[in-house]
Amino acid sequence: MSPLHVVEPGEDVLKTRMIEASARIESTLNALLPLKGGPEARLYQAMRYATMNGGKRLRPFLVLSSAALFGVRESCALRVAAAVECVHCYSLVHDDLPAMDDDDVRRGKPSTHRAYDEATAILVGDGLLTLAFETLANPETHEDPLIRANLSLALAKAAGARGMVGGQMIDMLAPQALQGDGDIGAITRLQRLKTGELFAFACESGAILGRGDNTRRQALHAFAHDMGLAFQIADDLLDLEGREEEVGKALRKDVRAGKATFVSILGIERARDQAQLLVDQAVQHLEIFDERADNLRMVARFVVDRRA
Ligand code: IPE
Ligand code: IPE
Ligand code: MG
Ligand code: MG
Ligand code: MG
Repeated sequence: MSPLHVVEPGEDVLKTRMIEASARIESTLNALLPLKGGPEARLYQAMRYATMNGGKRLRPFLVLSSAALFGVRESCALRVAAAVECVHCYSLVHDDLPAMDDDDVRRGKPSTHRAYDEATAILVGDGLLTLAFETLANPETHEDPLIRANLSLALAKAAGARGMVGGQMIDMLAPQALQGDGDIGAITRLQRLKTGELFAFACESGAILGRGDNTRRQALHAFAHDMGLAFQIADDLLDLEGREEEVGKALRKDVRAGKATFVSILGIERARDQAQLLVDQAVQHLEIFDERADNLRMVARFVVDRRA
């Protein structure tokens, strides 16, 4: 079952929009990931395996929703959306490796290193990460080289050691690397890097593509920051309370692995309240936008109510 089919009733508008967007993202990814023959064919197959037909496509949806605020051509936004999804999929492939979380199931099927092998999974990650930047640098993404450079710079910062990769390092070392088990500030920083920065890029990318002013870009950044934290709290809650058939990955792993999460510090009830608070705060940052920001407002609610 697709993760989008477990959205609560009443979220039909968002569900329809996300399913429609997913189809367009899927065909963009399909075009960027052609099958190739030759001795490296296995790599191309495995890159497609890790990327196609899976996941909620939340980050690409955020790119499209942000781009719509600035009247950006959808063909451009779709390429940026696909680039972010490539980075995200690479991060999942590497996150599941035995040296990291050692997970055998991802998006309801064997994780890439289980379906192929570890060396191939490492190369899949490398291939997807570089494909993301190749896509952004391509003139088809935007005719203005400065905008392409700004997109590449922002994605590099979000995905690299100052962003996602740095967050993954702290996550691997936590809780030992964090000062004291109960340091909510340290956990917030870890989650902001690990998950939040890529969300922030997705939300700001429309403003970069559409040459939005600083006020609007900052509002989107603040929205993404709060929404990203709420998203990660929901991921941590799902790890404890979710159903594996719905979530599509192994659960009950954070406690066993001694992961420091919002839930391990705050407990379930307070973590849930905190996520709700963050969503309300996220939506408030969108006050300067008209109804064209409704997708973003709905997504913020979705990230905490989701069951997958
Ligand atoms: C999972 O992200 C990894 C985290 C950052 C917690 P998603 O929950 O967005 O995964 P997919 O893309 O829907 O599979
Ligand atoms: C993964 O976080 C975050 C990234 C891949 C950057 P998790 O380890 O919590 O994600 P899941 O729970 O395996 O999806
Ligand atoms: Mg992990
Ligand atoms: Mg993991
Ligand atoms: Mg998790």
